[in-house]
Amino acid sequence: MTTERQWRVAVLGPGGVGGLIGALLARAGHRVTFLSGPETVRTVQEHGMHVRSGMLGEFTVKVEADTELREPVDLCLVTVKQNVLGAAVDRVPPAALGDGLVVPLLNGIEHPAVLRERYRPELVVPGVIRVASNRVAPGSIEHGSPFVEIDLASATTPPDQLDALAAMLNDAGIQAKTRGNESAMLWGKLFFLAPFALLTTHHQVPIGDLRTERRTELVDLVTEIATLSSAAGVPADVEAALRFYDAFPPEAKSSMQRDAEAGRPLELDAIGGALLRIAQQHAVPMPLTERLVTALTPLINGSTAESGR
Ligand SMILES: NC(=O)c1ccc[n+]([C@@H]2O[C@H](COP(=O)([O-])OP(=O)(O)OC[C@H]3O[C@@H](n4cnc5c(N)ncnc54)[C@H](OP(=O)(O)O)[C@@H]3O)[C@@H](O)[C@H]2O)c1
Repeated sequence: MTTERQWRVAVLGPGGVGGLIGALLARAGHRVTFLSGPETVRTVQEHGMHVRSGMLGEFTVKVEADTELREPVDLCLVTVKQNVLGAAVDRVPPAALGDGLVVPLLNGIEHPAVLRERYRPELVVPGVIRVASNRVAPGSIEHGSPFVEIDLASATTPPDQLDALAAMLNDAGIQAKTRGNESAMLWGKLFFLAPFALLTTHHQVPIGDLRTERRTELVDLVTEIATLSSAAGVPADVEAALRFYDAFPPEAKSSMQRDAEAGRPLELDAIGGALLRIAQQHAVPMPLTERLVTALTPLINGSTAESGR
């Protein structure tokens, strides 16, 4: 399927993910408005969104930017981090959204429910993104990975709307696929991400050291989270996770670890906190996850407090 019409797109959070995807959609001819705080809005209005990417080239797109959504869109991408989600969605009043799809690309598993409380549930299409992309300055994005892949699945949205969305993204150069099971999609990402994020951040080592020097702890944590995933209805493959980590370049660091090193707030609650809350619902003991979350909690707000956005 291909898409010929121009979509009206809002991007809430013009960072590494939102800036890149929004710029690609604008380059493909869609009408994109970035939603953010006043400073970033001014920069983007003045200079556009600049992308530098080995895979996609270097380009600047002229786009709109505003502090709030003021007219209906076909699509609103939610690309802020979980720790600011509550404040950020104030910029997208449900009445202004119209019938637009709301597509969160955040890591974590609890945000779809939060969005379905605020917006009509049939509009919310959770996505999982695989990419490495950084916001190096407001309006300036560096994309490092040789891929930009998005999976989409929604327990509440008609499949033809997901297909149209995936087609539109593919036409813009983003590899997008629809998946049949939302819960399996979100758990699949969290299951691989959580052990990598929690252990590399806690021990301050890259994956190469983790999988050799601390392999027992890695296996124990993957096993603990696999048990929870199964209890939540999504069987998880411990060996597959370990093979995945073994294939990483040894110097690879998690984004949570990079955030900790830079003194930025951590998505600890979206990842470790969510696991502990779900474990409580299913009465699954999670001693290792609990210990890591407790140890990392002092870093959760970072040392460069972000405010006023
Ligand atoms: N980056 C990646 O490669 C990657 C890969 C996979 C998954 N993810 C996930 O994608 C999500 C987004 O990550 P990211 O790396 O794109 O984060 P990011 O680069 O820090 O971008 C977050 C954006 O949110 C904006 N923001 C903050 N508070 C806001 C508010 N109240 N209203 C509107 N906008 C606000 C920031 O604005 P300013 O520009 O003004 O600072 C920034 O542009 C996270 O859940 C992350 O785990 C990221």
